[in-house]
Amino acid sequence: MPRKLDLPDSHAAREDGLPFAPSAARNAQPIGEVLARRLPAQGRVLELASGTGQHAIAFAARFPGLIWQPSELAEANLATIRARAARADLPNLRAPIPLNACAPGWGAAQAGQDAVVLVNLLHLISEPEAAILLAEAPRTLAPGGQAFLYGPFRRDGVLLTPGDRAFDAHLRAQDPGIGYKDVAWVTDRLTTGGLHVIERAEMPADNLMLVARRPQ
Ligand SMILES: C[S@@+](CC[C@H](N)C(=O)[O-])C[C@H]1O[C@@H](n2cnc3c(N)ncnc32)[C@H](O)[C@@H]1O
Repeated sequence: MPRKLDLPDSHAAREDGLPFAPSAARNAQPIGEVLARRLPAQGRVLELASGTGQHAIAFAARFPGLIWQPSELAEANLATIRARAARADLPNLRAPIPLNACAPGWGAAQAGQDAVVLVNLLHLISEPEAAILLAEAPRTLAPGGQAFLYGPFRRDGVLLTPGDRAFDAHLRAQDPGIGYKDVAWVTDRLTTGGLHVIERAEMPADNLMLVARRPQ
């Protein structure tokens, strides 16, 4: 079971009767722009922590040559993704799979991906959990494959804005082990796993997209 956290999106928004994340609706377009620049026309993408499935549907629709595989830890979210995917009826969208991104082993079990995509999880887990996730991500990638990590980060130990400081404190008040991760630490973990960080894109609302590539 994932932690029960009070988050800006936890407040029961619905769309056509299904749980709905306003943040996913807002960031799908800018995230999609980075993916469009970087993803191959054809291939396999594993999405971690797919949440409500809004990104899976948006990106499977936008990139019809890619097989999009959503995944989640929370059973309730798996059910939401299944329901949303059934309505979208996209031929390249796979049924969601249960996957704990913080448990060792999923990288080898899901090997051969051209990309792995993670949106807004690293700040909600502990550093040891994030270290496992960041060690597994390179193992899931085929040679030349890319990891896309989106979310809020510390930059050289610094929380940039009052909003970041308040959100990080709000998270740590709920669980002192979680909170924003530093870009340098994440980069170091990815590099240790054999990836090269090839882009650090500034995104709306002071978020970042880190893109890291496995050499051919
Ligand atoms: C803030 S939401 C982000 C969801 C989605 N990526 C988005 O941007 O809308 C965090 C998600 O991570 C999931 N999650 C938490 N811990 C996880 C883990 N260890 N493995 C996989 N998913 C996890 C939660 O169930 C939740 O859906």
